[in-house]
Amino acid sequence: MAVTVTTLKKMKSEGDKITWLTAYDYSFAALLDSAGIDAILVGDSLGMVIQGHDTPVPVTIEQSAYHTECVARGVENAMVVGDMPFGSYQVSKEQAYENAVKLMQAGAHVIKLEGGELQVETIRFLVERGVAVCAHIGLTPQSVHQLGGFKVQGRGAAAKRLLEDAIGVERAGACAVVLEAVPQKLASDITNKLTIPTIGIGAGADCDGQVLVLQDMLGIYPKPSPKFSKNFMVGAESVAEAVANYVRDVKGGQFPTADHAFD
Ligand code: KIV
Repeated sequence: MAVTVTTLKKMKSEGDKITWLTAYDYSFAALLDSAGIDAILVGDSLGMVIQGHDTPVPVTIEQSAYHTECVARGVENAMVVGDMPFGSYQVSKEQAYENAVKLMQAGAHVIKLEGGELQVETIRFLVERGVAVCAHIGLTPQSVHQLGGFKVQGRGAAAKRLLEDAIGVERAGACAVVLEAVPQKLASDITNKLTIPTIGIGAGADCDGQVLVLQDMLGIYPKPSPKFSKNFMVGAESVAEAVANYVRDVKGGQFPTADHAFD
């Protein structure tokens, strides 16, 4: 059965863990869909794992739409989440809407954009016009140069701000929020506070769901993978088995462990 935003909300309320992975093409999308993944994120991580850049900053809306289209063709049941790249939504709410339409016309059911309080007006504008929006807070890789690197966010005094960001995006109508590289206790507090699902990546086991970059979890990215990732090809005989093990471990609470989380 097709996974929708309603499905995700129901899964949160029933304590059923949500599984996301990234993918950027038809074949992997079909494989993930067959493994029963709940959502496929066509992340702007494609700038790194597909294009070989050091950051997602060079990715354009045309490239994001192209990969969303490829993924959408491979999917029967999974929710397709298209990623709004750097510069495609920050200029104005109208610019954000025009580019969200491009991703939806390419097959995205939900669009994701980075930012909390600062994006609240844009999120509200999109939601009022029929766009399902997933926010992304914590480590927001499009701002890597401003953040001074890929670093854990929300420690110490910054925790209050991150909680406010999460509440702000929920109030603006976001249907989910990705928490990236956030201390596990803070991610747990945010998850308990929100009615929308939290999808963690380096945010501990208490999030409502988990997402990883496909190339990291298959151990095929040539550069070092982050501490919060895990190579699921270890002990698996095929890519399909590795993905099935990821789904099993997230659903069963075996992934992530404390080794993949931050204090
Ligand atoms: O682009 C991406 O793959 C992402 C995930 C890291 C959440 O945004």
